[in-house]
Amino acid sequence: MSEIYYPNKELFKDAAIKSMDEYRALVQKAEEDYEGFWGDFAKEKIDWFKPFTKILNEENAPFYKWFEDGQLNVAYQCVDRHLKTRKNKAAIIFEGDNGDQRVLTYRELFYEVNKTANMFKNKFNIQKGDRVVLYMPMIPEAAISMLACAKIGAIHSVVFGGFSAEALRDRIIDAEAKLVVTADGAYRKGKPYMLKTVVDEALSQGCESVKAVCVVERNGENIHWEAGRDYAFNELIKNESVVCEPEAVEAEHPLFLLYTSGSTGKPKGVQHSSAGYILWAQMTMEWVFDIKENDTYWCTADVGWITGHTYIVYGPLAAGATTVMFEGVPTYPDAGRCWRMVEEYQINQFYTAPTAIRLLHKTGANEPAKYDLSSLRILGTVGEPIDPAAWKWYYEEVGGSRCSIVDTYWQTETGGHVISPLPGATPIKPGCATFPLPGIKAEIIDEDGTPTPVGEKGFACITKPWPSMIRTIWGDPERFVKSYFGDCKKDGKPVYFTGDGAMIDEDGYITITGRTDDVINVSGHRMGTAEVEAAIKKHENVAAVAVVGKPHDIKGEGIFAYVVLKSVPSEERDGTANMLETMKEINMIIKAEIGAIALCDDMAFVPDLPKTRSGKIMRRILRSLVKGEKITQDTSTLEDPSIVGIIEDLLSKK
Ligand code: PRX
Repeated sequence: MSEIYYPNKELFKDAAIKSMDEYRALVQKAEEDYEGFWGDFAKEKIDWFKPFTKILNEENAPFYKWFEDGQLNVAYQCVDRHLKTRKNKAAIIFEGDNGDQRVLTYRELFYEVNKTANMFKNKFNIQKGDRVVLYMPMIPEAAISMLACAKIGAIHSVVFGGFSAEALRDRIIDAEAKLVVTADGAYRKGKPYMLKTVVDEALSQGCESVKAVCVVERNGENIHWEAGRDYAFNELIKNESVVCEPEAVEAEHPLFLLYTSGSTGKPKGVQHSSAGYILWAQMTMEWVFDIKENDTYWCTADVGWITGHTYIVYGPLAAGATTVMFEGVPTYPDAGRCWRMVEEYQINQFYTAPTAIRLLHKTGANEPAKYDLSSLRILGTVGEPIDPAAWKWYYEEVGGSRCSIVDTYWQTETGGHVISPLPGATPIKPGCATFPLPGIKAEIIDEDGTPTPVGEKGFACITKPWPSMIRTIWGDPERFVKSYFGDCKKDGKPVYFTGDGAMIDEDGYITITGRTDDVINVSGHRMGTAEVEAAIKKHENVAAVAVVGKPHDIKGEGIFAYVVLKSVPSEERDGTANMLETMKEINMIIKAEIGAIALCDDMAFVPDLPKTRSGKIMRRILRSLVKGEKITQDTSTLEDPSIVGIIEDLLSKK
């Protein structure tokens, strides 16, 4: 598709950035005086407790520091300061899975955050710098707990509620968390599900750092209660004062850790800063979502992912917006749920993932027409490339061919959007993240920094430090340098490589072509093949395994495993009943080790894997095979070239 769609002038006459000329002027300003550009915005946007005098410190690159001698408090920036002008404005509108609603004004949110912060401090002795793991459903207490940590300078690590006890335990141990905040459970598709049981299991081994578990009551189901360790959030909070002085923290003080997958090893605790992170979270709300005082904004992500951090909690609240938080799933009780909510709350910005758009398109193509969606101005997508069919439906049926679509490209590590259209300015090409945001020096280059020619794939790099970038990997600074600054250089200096490939067209538009490493993008979430393989190897009959992504109608990519078994019963060589049993067993292990999000959609039991003589698995061949592509790679270097044909044959019989 090469059509260009221009912003609707009427809808965006008051947009933060109204034209490509305004966009170019900002880019130019950043080019001419990079530090001045960021310094001015930081002064204007943040309510500093102590103003900064230094903007960027590059001495210890790539451990960059921004605004380092300034002091602030992120909870103050997101809540307290709004009391002057919007105390009775809705800060969070919550809708539960079964339709229950709760609205917290900025004043109410202020009280709740303060009480929770006091509880963390007084009851659990949480001090500045302590780590608190949040294993929470999508309920207001998740946001309140995040902000309560920020208020007292504690560092939160939210673990997605779909992760297993093993995965939760690994993250608790890595962060040496002192407190775990969770809920008894929550609701999904009309039914209760449990979280506290997972926490109990996680804590059953090797989590000595955890002194207490604080449990929000959400679904009222029976739970195990360990005296002296488990405490009721709802009860304790009643005794706490609504007054809590915000802790002044240094600009670089870590705000949170968020674990994400890499191509090797265990998940990495991506560490974000306070000032740089919140600055960009707020600015992108203003620029990319064009948030206005009376808007109601809804992002459907989960707080367990970076999108939930930046664009449900921190960005919208820093910008003083009304943010909708939804506990349920988009297709329950039917595929009109989202559109009914858009109508009811008069949503102005709707932000979701292509995987949800594909699902809603497939299961309810005519649903949007049944609702009044005229409040919508901006439709956002994030997490993976959006395919033309989904884009067209989103644009025409949901947006009434009137809204701007912002295809926002970013990552856990970038903190906020880095390449994205501006809704009132950028003419959009479907499926294209378009241009770097002002101040973000995103370039498509080769390893040595040479810009990639038009139409050819290159590496998506960011060649200058920016305020909301990852600061380090918790506890592993070497891995930080190696993971992000080891592959590409510009002018001889290492630059940040995203791990994604990208292409630039003759008009300068950037299209993200996907990961260049062994990371699979399942429903917009990153899954490291190494992690899934490590889980599968725990099956006693597995000799070897290689996991690759396989195109999937809804998820974008699904997980496909090539498994070599130690022994295959002779009657099962064709893969019948017992193989299905083995598949089930392997998936049970994955569920226990990682969580249901990492389940394999399919597997092939193969006699061997294509390996080089030095033992390296040729994943590229395996990726091509699963897609049914012709093998163009040279197979003569393989230890046993005949294996390619054997696997091809096996797959064709599936
Ligand atoms: O491959 C890119 C893809 O998602 C990865 C980041 O995943 P994560 O850190 O989990 O954050 C997801 C939400 C920001 C990227 O490396 N990705 C993200 N946005 C897009 C995308 N791919 C194509 N188009 C996008 N808009």
